[in-house]
Amino acid sequence: DDSTDTETRSPVVTVMGHVDHGKTSLLDALRHANVVSGEAGGITQHIGAYQVVSPESGKKITFIDTPGHAAFTAMRARGAKVTDIVVLVVAADDGVMPQTVEAINHAKAARVPIIVAINKIDKPDAKPERVRTELLQHEVQVESFGGDVVDVEVSAKNKTNLDKLLEMIALQAEILDLKTNSQRPAEGTVIEAKLDRGRGPVATVLVQRGTLRVGDIIVAGAEMGRVRALISDQGETVQEAGPSVPVEVLGFNGPPEAGDRLAVVENEARARQVTSYRAHQKRENAAASISG
Ligand code: GTP
Ligand code: NA
Ligand code: MG
Repeated sequence: DDSTDTETRSPVVTVMGHVDHGKTSLLDALRHANVVSGEAGGITQHIGAYQVVSPESGKKITFIDTPGHAAFTAMRARGAKVTDIVVLVVAADDGVMPQTVEAINHAKAARVPIIVAINKIDKPDAKPERVRTELLQHEVQVESFGGDVVDVEVSAKNKTNLDKLLEMIALQAEILDLKTNSQRPAEGTVIEAKLDRGRGPVATVLVQRGTLRVGDIIVAGAEMGRVRALISDQGETVQEAGPSVPVEVLGFNGPPEAGDRLAVVENEARARQVTSYRAHQKRENAAASISG
């Protein structure tokens, strides 16, 4: 941040936890619980990042869903890096498991505050108190144990305590006092990228500062392009995306890599200069790793 960051921005919240502990169910439930994204019954899930409007405050929260499967460590690490807050989902019937611990470590490495969502409390074998004890063994100390980590007992299935969870996120965001400047050229991070048959290279980008606009000349990693279209998490075409907004970006010449930083540059010559240098470095690194 710098001194020109004077506008409040909405928090980016990454949802992490062990496989099948209910991260996506929780996000689904949250999205139905709000007006903006709840209206379209079948929301097009183009991207794993969604904005939710808190029904209490009317404030927006950006959520990033991550997979819990052991194989997706890199995605979880990436999720922790772009976020302001981690919501750690722990199933009350299963307790702290290997990827719960991994998620805790990612959050700590990224110095990001954790809010614990103890999920599936509707289940007859739910043991939320055991979850708190297990978390303590991994240095996550909830308030009832004298720590400063907030925990909320939720049920994605029954939509229990979802407002409370949103409230706790909003409170944490207030403490973090998140500022930005929407007036500058956009900077962001590529969350996912792919080569789409019909649409060409498509990158899901979280805009972090500034405003990304159709027509902007962009670079990310060794790729460049001009923004041809921006598509919101609702599947709608938009003209621009400001800070904390996730958006699909069309117009790259080739798909960048997840984790690449996106920047807007002044012209194509500059974009070519930046990306050809990076492409050269990439080739050299690849050659070096082959020759050992
Ligand atoms: P991965 O992304 O694969 O790591 O899983 P996830 O954490 O997103 O879990 P997901 O939302 O796919 O839910 C896993 C299973 O738990 C599904 O069968 C859900 O229906 C179930 N489930 C999720 N939340 C609840 C809950 O609050 N109560 C009960 N009883 N079941 C739940
Ligand atoms: Na699952
Ligand atoms: Mg999931």
